[in-house]
Amino acid sequence: MDKPLSLDPSGKIGLRRLRQSRAIRELTREVRPSHAQMIQPHFVVEGIRERESISGMRDVYRETTETLLNQVEKDLKAGIGKILLFSVPVDRGTNRFSFDFSANQIAALKRNFGDSLWLSADVCLCSHTTHGHCGILNESGDHIQNDLSVSTLAEQAVAFAEAGADCVAPSDMMDGRIGVIREMLSRRGHERTLIMSYSAKFCSKFYGPFREAAESAPKGTESKLKDRASYQIDPSRPKDAYLSSLRDSDEGADILMVKPGLCYLDVLKELSVRIAKPWAVYQVSGEYAAIELMADQGLMDRRGAHLEVWTAFVRAGASIIITYAARWAREWMTE
Ligand code: PBG
Repeated sequence: MDKPLSLDPSGKIGLRRLRQSRAIRELTREVRPSHAQMIQPHFVVEGIRERESISGMRDVYRETTETLLNQVEKDLKAGIGKILLFSVPVDRGTNRFSFDFSANQIAALKRNFGDSLWLSADVCLCSHTTHGHCGILNESGDHIQNDLSVSTLAEQAVAFAEAGADCVAPSDMMDGRIGVIREMLSRRGHERTLIMSYSAKFCSKFYGPFREAAESAPKGTESKLKDRASYQIDPSRPKDAYLSSLRDSDEGADILMVKPGLCYLDVLKELSVRIAKPWAVYQVSGEYAAIELMADQGLMDRRGAHLEVWTAFVRAGASIIITYAARWAREWMTE
């Protein structure tokens, strides 16, 4: 039998040579996500007796103060020492809030784990307001008041820094909050507290499971605003994401963020080139649940799927990945 005609007699176009074995594939990788760049989010909820599961979110819980400490300890053993904390207090308000529950959780974590734990805390009002919006509503219920919300958010940020947070992470999307938070932190002696701004946070449908976990979906009759479109960025406006990130950077954010991840890889890629600060990307609750639910149906290998997504994030320019699957990262990456 004749040898089949070769399309490549000189062997010059043979890209498959570098794909043929695990060894050469490992050697030629351009990006390698690492568990060292991951942040594990946690929810801690006041007034519950036992931890509660969240729809679609495998192994993620609404924790009690005690179960949170146990979980963080377990995660530290798995090599995950960086967290993002969301606290859900019992009391809700409209324009006056107590941040004591959240601050107490931060203090307890720091007391227990000291410097082995790097703690960032979400700064936002959506788990504190009766209506679930991220800021303070006006009397007629049709507008979130910017400046009033910003001064409250700054109080919250200072309370978290005082409790020992290494980093505050404002996710509310009010105008000018980074500048005011930076100023307030400095005045109160917290010059070293980092600010990670959710600077390119889009108005997304992928936050569904989170809103169940944080009891933060816009609700009730008080507010005429049924969604967060008047403060989060429209998915079709990448320029808005650029302006928002540039402004937050100028106002003193140390770390910028794109959120969600997969739908906004183009934004991450472009902005991380244009603005020379560390970029974080948030693989949000709906993105996590999509993989986990498919895996439950036998339609996807969860380890492989998460690794593929993280690889895309690093390729697009992220140095920090916030993901609910962080606690498996080290194990998965050494398999
Ligand atoms: C609150 C906040 C949200 C997330 C982080 N902080 C949800 C929202 O804006 O409604 C989403 C995180 C996730 O879905 O995992 N402002």
